[in-house]
Amino acid sequence: VNPCCYYPCQNRGVCVRYGTDQYKCDCTRTGYSGVNCTDPGFWAKVHTMLKPSPQVQDYILRHFEKFWDYVNNSPLRDTFMRIVLTGETIKIIIEEYVQQLSGYFFKLKFDPTLLFKEQFQYSNRIAVEFDHLYHWHSLLPDSYLIDGDEISATGFVFNGSVLANYGVEKMVDSFSRQIAGQIGGGQNFHESIIRVIRSLLHHGREVRLQPFNEYRKKFDQKPYESFSELTDNEEIAKGLEEAYGDIDALEFFPGIMLEKTSPGHIFGESMFQMGAPFSLKGLMGNAICSPEYWKPSTFGGETGFNIIKTATLEKLVCLNTKWCPYVSFRVP
Ligand code: HEM
Repeated sequence: VNPCCYYPCQNRGVCVRYGTDQYKCDCTRTGYSGVNCTDPGFWAKVHTMLKPSPQVQDYILRHFEKFWDYVNNSPLRDTFMRIVLTGETIKIIIEEYVQQLSGYFFKLKFDPTLLFKEQFQYSNRIAVEFDHLYHWHSLLPDSYLIDGDEISATGFVFNGSVLANYGVEKMVDSFSRQIAGQIGGGQNFHESIIRVIRSLLHHGREVRLQPFNEYRKKFDQKPYESFSELTDNEEIAKGLEEAYGDIDALEFFPGIMLEKTSPGHIFGESMFQMGAPFSLKGLMGNAICSPEYWKPSTFGGETGFNIIKTATLEKLVCLNTKWCPYVSFRVP
């Protein structure tokens, strides 16, 4: 059994496994030290002395409503608003973005309480594999049609004047109406991004990522037996054969990007099988989703909590713009 399954590291220290049954806690920036990150440092002690526990905050919220009026008229409001914005973002990402991306017919729901009875470690670490597989630059169209004008995609880079000229409403409207590029299958990376992909491959070698087929096995998928099984595109299969010689030598990123796309999807099954759990962990692993924090007091009261629970992309945009553009992850 992976010793990290017992969640030995406290105070949001990160558990790293060694060998079969050994582990180490990485207590970096937790303010604690010791084998299991349980020894408070100076600032952690000061912090615990000054900060009312979530339980006390919850009590105050229930019994002293006026208190929150004062809080919300103080600079603390900014802190609460930042946390509310984090919650709104997670809600919108799950219920609108992931919903659209997954193509699922059932409705996704953001409800952290569903995980409270599960073994789940709340951690904001991102896996290097997720960082790599999310290089979805091929989503970007080569150009955008904004208010009748065609603006090249690279024309935005370091150029705030596009936003200043057209305004956020017209840009959002344009981005929501224009279809995105296909992510997987190959041959869809803009030339300006090739250098990013090149350095990505170098990085993958530097950290010695395992071959694509090894990741297939880890994620309960059958390893590919040939390049022509990986892709229907003969040219790509031939190129990979020449470069790698053996399907078991194929690297992670080329594998996940060049795999044949699933019918009606923008990428192949490996991207889906590996990306989905990473994505879920990244969204639900935020501290605000943990039982300690998922309560009104974290968000400046019931009002802030409700802003999160009822957040939509349209509200986020249209409560902040002069007029309400078409705004959606789905083209009309
Ligand atoms: C105009 C649009 C974009 C440009 C010019 C751009 C360019 C870049 C550049 C220059 C890097 C850093 C490469 C390096 O230093 O190794 C990068 C990293 C990255 N990009 Fe983009 N990108 C764009 C849009 C996107 C989009 C739409 C996505 C995903 C949907 C994306 C995903 C990523 C990821 C995951 C990384 C790695 C981040 C990291 O390692 O910290 N990018 N991009």
